[in-house]
Amino acid sequence: MNNLKTPVYVIDEKKLIENCRILKDVQERSDAKILLAQKAFSAYSTYPVIAEYLAGTTSSGLFEAKLACEEFYTKEQRKHLEASNITSSTKLPEIHVFEPAFGDEEMKEICDIADHLVFNSINQLEHHRAVWEKAVNEKGSNDEPKVRNGFSVGIRVNPEFSTQDDHEIYDPCAPGSRLGIRVCDLGDKLPDGVEGLHFHTLCEQGFEPLKETFEAFEKAFGKYLPGKNNDSHLKWINLGGGHHITKPDYDREGLIELVKYIRNTYGLQVYLEPGEAIALDAGYVITTVMDIVTTEKYPVLILDTSAACHMPDVLEMPYRPPLRDGGEPGAKKYTYRLSSRTCLAGDVIGDYSFDNEIKIGDRLCFEDMAIYSMVKNNTFNGMPLPDIAVLHEDSSTEVVKKFGYDDFKCRL
Ligand SMILES: Cc1ncc(COP(=O)(O)O)c(C=O)c1O
Repeated sequence: MNNLKTPVYVIDEKKLIENCRILKDVQERSDAKILLAQKAFSAYSTYPVIAEYLAGTTSSGLFEAKLACEEFYTKEQRKHLEASNITSSTKLPEIHVFEPAFGDEEMKEICDIADHLVFNSINQLEHHRAVWEKAVNEKGSNDEPKVRNGFSVGIRVNPEFSTQDDHEIYDPCAPGSRLGIRVCDLGDKLPDGVEGLHFHTLCEQGFEPLKETFEAFEKAFGKYLPGKNNDSHLKWINLGGGHHITKPDYDREGLIELVKYIRNTYGLQVYLEPGEAIALDAGYVITTVMDIVTTEKYPVLILDTSAACHMPDVLEMPYRPPLRDGGEPGAKKYTYRLSSRTCLAGDVIGDYSFDNEIKIGDRLCFEDMAIYSMVKNNTFNGMPLPDIAVLHEDSSTEVVKKFGYDDFKCRL
């Protein structure tokens, strides 16, 4: 990695595969289907690797859905597609789409691409009914598909059960939330054609909050579920993302038991759509120290990367990214403030200490930088975007994307 031009995002393929193996094991032992939430990680050069392990993708709208449709295949599936050799027995990765509102001009194309479509309100479901009902007829159901994996429509519900204290902006159950239909806004029966329920309420959480949320969901929405309701047409439930399944301390056995309980009690196919868990700790930002400025506090390292431009969640969430060989301020001999060359005074990544004095030209490595980084970066101040490289399993590195002036200009 020492030869890569900085700043650069480096995706660690080995770690990505380790995460995917854990998720595949959960899939196989629970019979859940696990989807990559592309909003967290869409570096599609790695999709053929991820597609070997997961059941498909979920998308936040048309563009992510198109990306999945073009890129999320194993090498084998790609061969079949290129040879137009898709038969009903060729299983392709599933494409799910949820967005709070879909434009009229997008709906037909989304229905063509998607296997599952989730609406955020009854207004939206009814507004687009003619288009999605046509797709159901043409593409067939998930059980008896005529095109790809067939087509199924669901709605997102709000279990009104908050489990997060720290990050209200990431809490879809916070008071006044626009995300998901509350039970009081649903009638006695689900609208015709709805085959699935979706909720997403967690953020970087363990199993216990999911269990509690499911219990709250079951209490509020149980009347719509098969088993308790013989008229129910529900076929699936999607438990959203925010599950830190690949963290060593995650209670995966608990999750497997919950999925089995849902399937055994209600006969529903369970979906999980984590983003973070898939590429957790599977990427770095490598940066070079461009200058060192003395202040009345710690000396400030001016880096060629930026929190505001290249890792916006550091400021938005906020959080302190792990830095290789870096300690808490004061823990090691030399402490510095790590900052950027943008004009934003608050563009500070954090204060870190080192065993050795840092010099201009040194390279530093921020860790856990694959998720919500590349998908959220920007060119504020005309900052160059970091290239994207992959550190392959055999330790070779490959630069898969280079960015320059045109990428700044073409957006303006
Ligand atoms: C509907 C939905 N699904 C899945 C995810 C992925 O969540 P995470 O990356 O935290 O696992 C999100 C994140 O915001 C989401 O809004």
